[in-house]
Amino acid sequence: MNSEQTFRIAVLAGDGIGPEVMAEGLRVLEAAAKKFSISFEFDHQLVGGAAIDAVGRALPAETLAACEQADAILFGSVGGPKWESLPANEQPERAALLPLRKHFGLFANLRPAICLPELTHASPLHPRLVEGGFDVLCVRELTGGLYFGEPKYIKSENGEDFAVDTMIYWESEIRRIAKVAFEAARNRRKEITSIDKANVLQNGILWRRVINEVSRDYPDVTLKHLYVDNAAMQLIKNPKAFDVILAENLFGDILSDEMAMIAGSLGMLPSASLGESTGGSTGGPTGGTTRFGMFEPSGGTAPDIAGQGIANPIAQILSCAMMLRFSIGRADAAEAIENAVRAVISSGLRTGDIHTPEARLVGTAEMGAAIAAQI
Ligand code: IPM
Ligand code: MG
Repeated sequence: MNSEQTFRIAVLAGDGIGPEVMAEGLRVLEAAAKKFSISFEFDHQLVGGAAIDAVGRALPAETLAACEQADAILFGSVGGPKWESLPANEQPERAALLPLRKHFGLFANLRPAICLPELTHASPLHPRLVEGGFDVLCVRELTGGLYFGEPKYIKSENGEDFAVDTMIYWESEIRRIAKVAFEAARNRRKEITSIDKANVLQNGILWRRVINEVSRDYPDVTLKHLYVDNAAMQLIKNPKAFDVILAENLFGDILSDEMAMIAGSLGMLPSASLGESTGGSTGGPTGGTTRFGMFEPSGGTAPDIAGQGIANPIAQILSCAMMLRFSIGRADAAEAIENAVRAVISSGLRTGDIHTPEARLVGTAEMGAAIAAQI
């Protein structure tokens, strides 16, 4: 890797708590960049409701162009009550987030749900189920299935409306997301639980067949299949039994929220949305090559606490670590951030979402500063 290289990052902070937590993500990223001699150029761009208010659309052409010029996208969050009454296809989620995923072919969504041993109290599950913490990785297919399948419409017939969404998966789409999951599992406990609804859906039958085929190339990884309804139940019953969960788009959307909740706080969970590999070595768990990606916290805009300086910035900070690992190829700097987060949690600092009486309550900026100082 060329140490003189400057990486260009498109920064799309968006709405709600997005700008507050993004500021802390960048603060920590800058500390890591300095320590590991990585050079970044940040290109701040409008997205979501903020872009609607400023220029009339959620994903301005200028923002998209800036993303095209970048090595990676750092995303905050979009949406909020102010824009909910707009026509559906102008709303921030539909008009910015989904098009970004599709445009850049970000088919692989990695959502690690890590419940740190110090934070098990924040999980709504019984303490005996989460004692010692747990670490589950959801690998969600992100550009196929019901989200994007055509036809997709609402029409009227005989005076009654009806709606159609199409669930479609090509073998090649299933195979490429399966490979990401199997590669990731190889760097973990080597267990995959593949999710489907093969007892009802044709998609489930094909999904299961292709996953079984791919698994033959990974004899060291144990594969199990679960129907999605059963998986939703088993996750609550025994989260520690899971290592990697592999799911299509909608099932992954639903299960990853469930995982976020049982891990304690949405404010702790980062995510990476990755495209095909672009070359270079990551030393990371997606097959060892860098990929263009978009990195964002899983938690959303949290309008109820926006602007108060109390949101947990850790999800955004850990998303920056994922960017370093997957798009920049610097697992060393990524680990430094992850270790700094653990150290600061161990030292007893807590934002409101994970607070207990004996810990020290801090705001967004103080948490970010403490993590940056730890690097
Ligand atoms: C997510 C979100 C999005 C999704 C919404 C905001 C469109 O829930 O990233 O999980 O459904 O993918
Ligand atoms: Mg979701």
